[in-house]
Amino acid sequence: MRMYDLIYKKREGEELSPEEISYIIKGYTAEEIPDYQLAAWAMAVFFQGMTAEETAHLTREVAHSGDIVDLSDIPGTKVDKHSTGGVGDKTTLVLVPLVAAAGVPVPKMSGRGLGHTGGTIDKLESIPGFQTEMERSRFLKQVNEIGAAIIGQTGNLTPADKKLYALRDVTATVDSRPLIASSIMGKKIAGGADAIVLDVKTGSGSFMVEREEARKLARLMVEIGLELERKTIALLTDMSQPLGFAIGNALEMKEAAATLKNQGPLDLTKICLKLGAAMLTAGGYSTGMEEAEAELTEILKSGEALEKMKKIITAQGGDSRILEEPELLPRAELTEELTAKKSGYISEINAREIGLIAMSLGAGREKKGDSIDPAAGVEVLVKQGDEVETGATLARLHTADKYKSRLPELLERLSKAVKINPEPISPEELIQEIIE
Ligand code: URA
Repeated sequence: MRMYDLIYKKREGEELSPEEISYIIKGYTAEEIPDYQLAAWAMAVFFQGMTAEETAHLTREVAHSGDIVDLSDIPGTKVDKHSTGGVGDKTTLVLVPLVAAAGVPVPKMSGRGLGHTGGTIDKLESIPGFQTEMERSRFLKQVNEIGAAIIGQTGNLTPADKKLYALRDVTATVDSRPLIASSIMGKKIAGGADAIVLDVKTGSGSFMVEREEARKLARLMVEIGLELERKTIALLTDMSQPLGFAIGNALEMKEAAATLKNQGPLDLTKICLKLGAAMLTAGGYSTGMEEAEAELTEILKSGEALEKMKKIITAQGGDSRILEEPELLPRAELTEELTAKKSGYISEINAREIGLIAMSLGAGREKKGDSIDPAAGVEVLVKQGDEVETGATLARLHTADKYKSRLPELLERLSKAVKINPEPISPEELIQEIIE
């Protein structure tokens, strides 16, 4: 086989066989095929697309390019959840203890934030003492004993995806549906998931801004799941404004704690109950979404999910008092408020721009390995459609003294990101579609 012929074949819109896809991914991972040929192939895929079968083969190759996590020591179906990324998305912090309290084992591996979106591991590390690295045997033991554990990604998982993603990033081939779908599903399968729930975001804060594109991506991933015998349910959800009110690590941890007490923002609570219901349904722990959602609503009200989170935090060396006393979380040296310059209705809260502002306040990193300030971030106190009066507080910035000089410019950017209209508006539907 020659890589030249396979680039040509894809360029002409023909379907590649499983052997040909295997040759490409194995050859690239082993560094036998150079970046420039993979780049040409990725661009051919971008323009010609791939069939569902080709995409399933590509997913399988990506998943098996490195280690496959063996979770067989944990009895029961293991359900993983993946979000395509957004601003203020702290659902994992609520979902893990919530579904674990319903009897689903949750061995969760999560990532760190990069760019304008946050990561679960950074949020958890805002809890004093919380450890996100542990031996595999301890990880499995914790899941078997208390029902859940959350750690950072370890091992040599999907090296093909790491290389291919970095190449796509610099060759304008990230936003190709088969490449995104195989990248996400390949990682979930390598992580040992038996069933998968996907939160596919659409709107300004997501990377699939157009709803129709996001819907097609969600459908493709559900099809791949079917092909690879992993029951997959996708939710198409709105990310045109941040989820909840808090953006930034400790601020989001505090909001997750309130949600576990059933006192959280309505949008966050709603999405967690739906995603949780999808996890129970996909894993065969419930007969349907409605029954599962009713069960999880009871669990949340009863305080069992909060108790489960206390156990997880304690088992991982953290101070679980933060759930009752959030003032024990890191707090910023400086806060500054944005107030409404006119009265009217909130018509837009640009999630992407707010994510970028939070980053500039110290909450995020531009490149891997940068340090972050757990206390930094933005609280947006309003939602699309809210009516506000002149002078009302719209948002609060949290940062360290060293960034004081950045505040005037960031406040100006924030005032442009939160728009006020004289006419009432109806916000986007939060949960737009469930695809099974
Ligand atoms: N997220 C991923 O994991 N992979 C992609 O290709 C895009 C988003």
